[in-house]
Amino acid sequence: MSQVSLEADLSTGAGMVEACRHHTLFEWSAQSHVDPIPVARAKGVHFWTPEGKRYIDFNSQLMCVNIGHGHERVIRAVQDQVARLAYANPFMATEARARLGVKLAELCPGDIDAFFFTNGGSEANENAVRIARLYTGRHKVLARYRSYHGGTAGSLTLTTHPSSSHSETGIPGVVHIPHPYHGIERGWDATEKALADVEEIIQLEGPQTIAALILEPVTGTNGVLPPPPGYLEGIRDLCTRHGILMIADEVMSGFGRTGAWFAVNHWGVVPDILTMAKGLTSAYVPLGAVGVRRGIAEHFESNVLYGGLTYNSHPLGCATALATIAVYEDEGLIERARETGKLMRSLLDDLKDRHPSVGATRSIGLFGIVELVRNRTTLEPLAPFNGTSPEMKALGRFFREEGLYTFVRWNTFFTNPPLCITESELHEAFDIIDRGLAITDRAVVD
Ligand SMILES: Cc1ncc(COP(=O)(O)O)c(C=O)c1O
Repeated sequence: MSQVSLEADLSTGAGMVEACRHHTLFEWSAQSHVDPIPVARAKGVHFWTPEGKRYIDFNSQLMCVNIGHGHERVIRAVQDQVARLAYANPFMATEARARLGVKLAELCPGDIDAFFFTNGGSEANENAVRIARLYTGRHKVLARYRSYHGGTAGSLTLTTHPSSSHSETGIPGVVHIPHPYHGIERGWDATEKALADVEEIIQLEGPQTIAALILEPVTGTNGVLPPPPGYLEGIRDLCTRHGILMIADEVMSGFGRTGAWFAVNHWGVVPDILTMAKGLTSAYVPLGAVGVRRGIAEHFESNVLYGGLTYNSHPLGCATALATIAVYEDEGLIERARETGKLMRSLLDDLKDRHPSVGATRSIGLFGIVELVRNRTTLEPLAPFNGTSPEMKALGRFFREEGLYTFVRWNTFFTNPPLCITESELHEAFDIIDRGLAITDRAVVD
């Protein structure tokens, strides 16, 4: 590939792709394997290429555009804020920061009522760990396998993807604990066993050395895995008994994705620290946050909170979050996700009934996934863990040709539309999925 000239037409799909591929680096990929969709504009649940091909966005981009694309109210809020006060340094107080703090205190569970703002989810988790260490005076952090907590040094150490720690030594003090799900063939641990395993590790490590346990209440990237009954409550109890702070990473599961403001609400669990990003602004502008319970906030009345960012509490991010939250509230999007989630559940069940390659489906609200298998009896996955297969690649190609965008990963694909999706749009997407599964059904051997 040769140097691309600025004289080239970079407004065409081909021009965009060539220049992006040559002069920018794509994440998590060998660059020669990258095949990006050129995107020119978006509205509601759809986006378009410069040449006008329309896609239904069945993953809310990266599970983040929860309110849907191009919402006028949020666009206006961004425009108003940038015109009035684009930036103030984080040692200052602004109206947007003030209002967002008050609003999040109203929305968050229990007495989580003070917030440290960041640029995104990875930084939120970095700072959550730092806060837990400063508060407890302990240094270890327990994090589960099959988790994704971000791409910066600390959050990547918490993350347990086999290739994510390729060239990294990681931060000290992170201890990985099992996830109760062991893949489609082995299935789930019973809650009692899962909790006993965690308790054993706490004892072996020494509870007095452990600052925090971080988990995604509903695991996202690694498979949309709602916890088994009693599990989250059991983790809360273990943390309380051992003076360990429970950090709920709600970066993906927060802001209505599961049909509740936060996933922990489904189980009535109040974590000590709750991290958020993505749906907080629906990604119109980057913003993350660490929410802490009152007791932790009070600790930092007299103890220094070491840590900061130039863009902490960015007025643009805060104003965008406020407008986004107003959209969730005024359009009833959280309730809508719960209701439309029931239709999605039945459409997923229907896929499982009719397609032999569908080994399992899981969903909570509009957070869903399909696991494909080669054999309905042994449940051998259609692609290995952390790998792919010709059939999964063909399915991905079919979705793309048919104008359905979603995340196709390993033996799975996700169903995470914007929360504003209508019933007919949902049916339209499932119709494409239904036709696509004819490809994977042909690979089933029994
Ligand atoms: C659960 C979870 N935590 C943290 C992150 C990292 O957030 P960001 O990419 O905004 O840094 C993600 C991103 O996908 C996530 O899903």
